[in-house]
Amino acid sequence: MKNTTYWLVVVGSVALAVGASRIWPPVSDDWTDTEIEMLRSLWIGSLPELPADPSNAYSEDPRAAELGHELFFSTALSPSRAIACATCHRPELRFTDGMQKGRGIGQSKRNTKSIVGAAYSPWQYWDGRRDSQWSQALSPIEDPAEHGGSRGQAVAAVASDTRLRGQYEAVFGDMPDRSDAREVDTVFANIGKAIAAYERLLMPGPSRFDHYVEAVLAGDAVKQDELYTDDERAGLRLFINEAACTQCHNGPLLTNHEFHNTGLLSFPGEIPDKGRAAGVREVLVDPFNCVGEFSDAEPEDCAELEFARTGPEVLGAFRTPSLRNLQNTQPYMHKGQMFSLAEVLEHYNEAPLAMIGHNESKPLGLSAAELLQLEAFLMTLAAPLSTPQRWLRPPDQ
Ligand code: HEC
Ligand code: HEC
Repeated sequence: MKNTTYWLVVVGSVALAVGASRIWPPVSDDWTDTEIEMLRSLWIGSLPELPADPSNAYSEDPRAAELGHELFFSTALSPSRAIACATCHRPELRFTDGMQKGRGIGQSKRNTKSIVGAAYSPWQYWDGRRDSQWSQALSPIEDPAEHGGSRGQAVAAVASDTRLRGQYEAVFGDMPDRSDAREVDTVFANIGKAIAAYERLLMPGPSRFDHYVEAVLAGDAVKQDELYTDDERAGLRLFINEAACTQCHNGPLLTNHEFHNTGLLSFPGEIPDKGRAAGVREVLVDPFNCVGEFSDAEPEDCAELEFARTGPEVLGAFRTPSLRNLQNTQPYMHKGQMFSLAEVLEHYNEAPLAMIGHNESKPLGLSAAELLQLEAFLMTLAAPLSTPQRWLRPPDQ
């Protein structure tokens, strides 16, 4: 698919190819050894197997995942019976909702994040205010803007539904006495642990980018040529070199799972979002965190929490999102500030001053043509999930 211009000059019956810019058969793209190592590190084949979550003893339990699947799509956890996790996390939109901010009973404060691959992150939410998927799953239930319920109501909903109760007891044992607040908290935590066991199944599949890397690693010039256009290859080159996107968007999920300030503005009239500075304070005192009494982890499993950065550098910082999900997850950024990749790239090109804290990215000075190449490359990361279809729709009733 390389752009090749052939000038055919016909003299009498003889056709001469003059100035043909391509060599045939194609030669391998000229990546240096260092660049090839970078490509290998971004390749989905470098994604390690997801380790069990030590804070969730049920993270690998298939029956817990079945219950979690049921709960994710169920409106039973909301008192109005109108809201499910899937109301905002829609499978067909890669578990986002297409809106600037989530909408349940009221409006969420931020843009709905995709859940795909999120089990690999030590932090959940844009500001990392939870340190596991099971503790995360508890907060929408009690968020007045989301499910708008309470733990007592959620536990009662599971206990009073024959099907859910049966599934719950098969995994966690008999439903305890619900007049005891600690027992209610334990069941509530178990509801989160089941949902997390389900969410771990939501994983990205190999994209055209990954097949291109395989062709580079194999030195297969014909395949490289078939898989990538000149613009896509140039965009990839910019991504890992001049534009230094891999400073933060690195590893096979194209995220370092860390918090950075990239100078995003809040909407007019909104108080600037403190991001990680507020999130880290919240996770350290969350009763459902890794060191809390409902966690199954040993204290030494909780190093991320113990060493979480709290300094001024996390003011206005947000968690680097994966870039394996850009095709139908607009709008982008923590408040859904941007509707198109062109806007996102223009923002990086200018690197404006941050409203709060300090913008870590520097102006790029790329041309309009280069920005289009970067965008072309980013779209090659899109691919269907590797998760079997049955997990992507409500369970059969
Ligand atoms: C009203 C819409 C809404 C509902 C309902 C909702 N969420 Fe979310 N979800 C969001 C928003 C908005 C965010 C990002 C909020 C933030 O980061 O501050 C989010 C973030 C998340 C994340 C973090 C992903 C990551 O990579 O950080 C997970 C996991 C998640 N939700 C799971 C759930 C589960 C499980 C439920 C059901 C118990 C649920 N959500 C219900 C809107 C919703
Ligand atoms: C200093 C770290 C850093 C660098 C460098 C960086 N990013 Fe980001 N990127 C982030 C963070 C953090 C966010 C989320 C920002 C927010 O919402 O406040 C983000 C968000 C994005 C998004 C939106 C994704 C979504 O789902 O909302 C895209 C697309 C993106 N970056 C692409 C790029 C590209 C392309 C480059 C190189 C030109 C780049 N990034 C460089 C850290 C970085």
